[in-house]
Amino acid sequence: MKPLLAGNWKMHGLSGSAKVLARRLAELDLTSMDIDVVVFPPNVHARIVFDEIAKSDLGLGAQNMSEHASGAFTGEISGEMLREVGCDYVLVGHSERRSLFSESSDLVAEKFRSAQSSRMTPILCVGESLEQRQQGMTSKVIDEQIDAVLNLVGPSDLCRGVIAYEPLWAIGTGKVASPMQAQKVHAEIRAKLGGEGSGTRLLYGGSLTSKNAAGLFAEPDIDGGLVGGASLDGEEFIKIARLLA
Ligand code: 13P
Repeated sequence: MKPLLAGNWKMHGLSGSAKVLARRLAELDLTSMDIDVVVFPPNVHARIVFDEIAKSDLGLGAQNMSEHASGAFTGEISGEMLREVGCDYVLVGHSERRSLFSESSDLVAEKFRSAQSSRMTPILCVGESLEQRQQGMTSKVIDEQIDAVLNLVGPSDLCRGVIAYEPLWAIGTGKVASPMQAQKVHAEIRAKLGGEGSGTRLLYGGSLTSKNAAGLFAEPDIDGGLVGGASLDGEEFIKIARLLA
């Protein structure tokens, strides 16, 4: 399968820096690299980024979306609105959404379904906290997060999405999971998906940089990365992309 590198810009930068970063990334020759690279700017910069990358093979995504198609939902953005500005991907259930904005696994599942109804590829983010890992609950937590989506959309639609394993203790901490730790979880996710999941892309995220990416990308069930902080530095993000190619 074609590897995927996703850059989650979170709530960083203004339009000027978004434009500069997008322009630099648009120079990447992705055809020769044979990987997909997608950036996830803040929604308000989506159009600016889209205009910069329109002629490149770079993809555009959103960091979040409403589970509703339209209506009186002040402050929310629908899948169709994101499609219209050029988004092909959307993150659902990022741990910051789950923990800071109280998104439940059932709500995340609704968002996953809504993204697919809007013809976008959802990237379902899952992961355990340090406390949950120390209590031996990693598999249980990830099972529960995936089951909510599986129960709502069924195995085929789940497998058409992307799953990103992002352990909470590795996000923004500089403490990356070891290739062995990440591979163990990815293999469990792959096994859970069954036959249809052999082509589902499973990404690792959490303090991913050009210094640690090679070891992680070498693992058989790690098909790419979801990068936060390091995706804001164009040269660094390109280095990570080259390690995946
Ligand atoms: P960092 O790469 O900054 O740890 O963030 C990971 C992440 O949350 C990507 O979605």
